[in-house]
Amino acid sequence: MPKLTLAPSLLAADFARLGDEVAACEEAGAHWFHFDVMDGHYVPNLSIGIPVLESLRAVTSSFIDVHLMIDNPAIFLEPFADAGADLITIHQEVSTHLHRDVHEIRRLGKKVGVAINPSTPASTLSDVLPFLDLVLVMTVNPGFGGQSFIHAATRKATRLRTMADELGLVDLNIEVDGGVGPETAPIAARAGADVLVAGSSVFRGPGTIQENYQAIWRSLESDA
Ligand code: DX5
Ligand code: ZN
Repeated sequence: MPKLTLAPSLLAADFARLGDEVAACEEAGAHWFHFDVMDGHYVPNLSIGIPVLESLRAVTSSFIDVHLMIDNPAIFLEPFADAGADLITIHQEVSTHLHRDVHEIRRLGKKVGVAINPSTPASTLSDVLPFLDLVLVMTVNPGFGGQSFIHAATRKATRLRTMADELGLVDLNIEVDGGVGPETAPIAARAGADVLVAGSSVFRGPGTIQENYQAIWRSLESDA
């Protein structure tokens, strides 16, 4: 199994205590955080944006993966890059000129990700895959935390891992996002994902943040 990363999704954190909750995750071993941005147009919800990212950047040196669930992402790439993103992911479904946007993120000096929804085929990424650091396979329809993992979507992680191997893209990260917890994390990892995003199961699970985070890790280790 490849080296795995478990990335807490801050959408499920207590925003009044964001710095403390990030620190609790780091004490549990987290070094990568997933930051969900929603615009109320592309997805039927609003979340956090540039000022929160700036504040977060000031209190952590962990890797911050910004997931833009917004229409017209091109106009927000530079502001999110300047605010401290390490990686910016845009959705294939809303990027009119995906190749251009991908190269713009790279020009801004950031790692590049493209996300696909449960209904979007992996094949839509075949021509852009060599330019990416990460593909985000949504295992829920984007917009809300706390939804159930869509098992059928994991086939796309496997398909994308095969496509990456065929192209010799050994460093491509495949991230899954939505409904990941101790029961589903091993399924996603077995399917070929190496970055697992987990929101509710980390911040709103049965134990403390550290206990919840470590419970997901243990599920991965016992499956290895
Ligand atoms: C959903 C977001 C996810 C969300 C996952 O649209 O992209 O990152 O925070 O939340 P959980 O882990 O609770 O499904
Ligand atoms: Zn997300």
